[in-house]
Amino acid sequence: MQERLMTLQGEAVEKIEKAGSLKELQDIRVEYLGKKGPITEVLKGMGKLPAEERPKMGQLANDVRDAITQKVETKQEKLEREALDAKLSSETIDVTLPGRPVRKGNAHPLTAVVEEIEDLFIGMGFSVAEGPEVETDYYNFEALNLPKNHPARDMQDSFFITEDILLRTQTSPVQARTMEKHEGRGPVKIISPGKVYRRDTDDATHSHQFMQIEGLYVDKNVRMSDLKGTLTLFAQKLFGAEREIRLRPSFFPFTEPSVEVDVSCFKCNGKGCSICKRTGWIEILGAGMVHPNVLEMAGFDSKEYTGFAFGMGPERIAMLKYGIDDIRHFYANDVRFLEQFKRA
Ligand code: PHE
Repeated sequence: MQERLMTLQGEAVEKIEKAGSLKELQDIRVEYLGKKGPITEVLKGMGKLPAEERPKMGQLANDVRDAITQKVETKQEKLEREALDAKLSSETIDVTLPGRPVRKGNAHPLTAVVEEIEDLFIGMGFSVAEGPEVETDYYNFEALNLPKNHPARDMQDSFFITEDILLRTQTSPVQARTMEKHEGRGPVKIISPGKVYRRDTDDATHSHQFMQIEGLYVDKNVRMSDLKGTLTLFAQKLFGAEREIRLRPSFFPFTEPSVEVDVSCFKCNGKGCSICKRTGWIEILGAGMVHPNVLEMAGFDSKEYTGFAFGMGPERIAMLKYGIDDIRHFYANDVRFLEQFKRA
């Protein structure tokens, strides 16, 4: 029995020394020291020994078990240390290497222009309102004094989804929606930026989807001169302190009178150049005094309240401001274009 124990110890030690991985080592431990292992087997056979030999053999078996356990533990530490060393040496960092440049994004030029315009009007006491892009015929047209079959609907070729639902062709429906919420009580003072859609063929100056920024101010005693003052300030903040604006008569069904607003050319100061097509003036937006029918339909008493409204295209404004020659650049997401608008 003694001999058997010594052979087992020898065998186990040899295997432990050869073990190349923690898994292998674990298997060896189970093989020799486990419940079904040979040492347990030997200990079970102790009963057959003469009584005086039992303590000696028991002691020996325990010693062998301890020796193997000891060996396994030492080897385990060694394997773990080796694994750590290998990991550390493969993951060394050369702190003297130059860093990788971090590419920093910037706001889309359209976003930047919209935010600039928002800030400007917020500074004049306007707040920002939003409305749905999928709109009803009622808000997009009827509530804006454009009944069904009105010929002025032709000015805005529309994407209809059903007979009564369409992609909004303008941000003006937000006028009607906002006024309704105020339940006949002023002041209403909002701007509303957002996407609009028209059935146009895309080219350098047309896009089937583009942006508008709507403005609306309804209160007692709002006059045309308030519109002119507000838009003069807007034009000067955006295009330079020397700018002037002029109002030309125009037509929109939801404003009366209606005007087209021009700004004096910021390139030639009104002398005439290629940007202003030799006229000295550049058209920037449409505006007018809110039509009494529009006020009444949205629940305002048109004898008590008046208002002005305007609508502009931020793409057009950004194109003028930055000399961009094709509206499609805004939507192509070409970084070579976008990168040119990093804020200082
Ligand atoms: N909604 C008009 C358009 O898209 C612009 C506009 C808005 C005109 C508000 C007057 C008042 O052409």
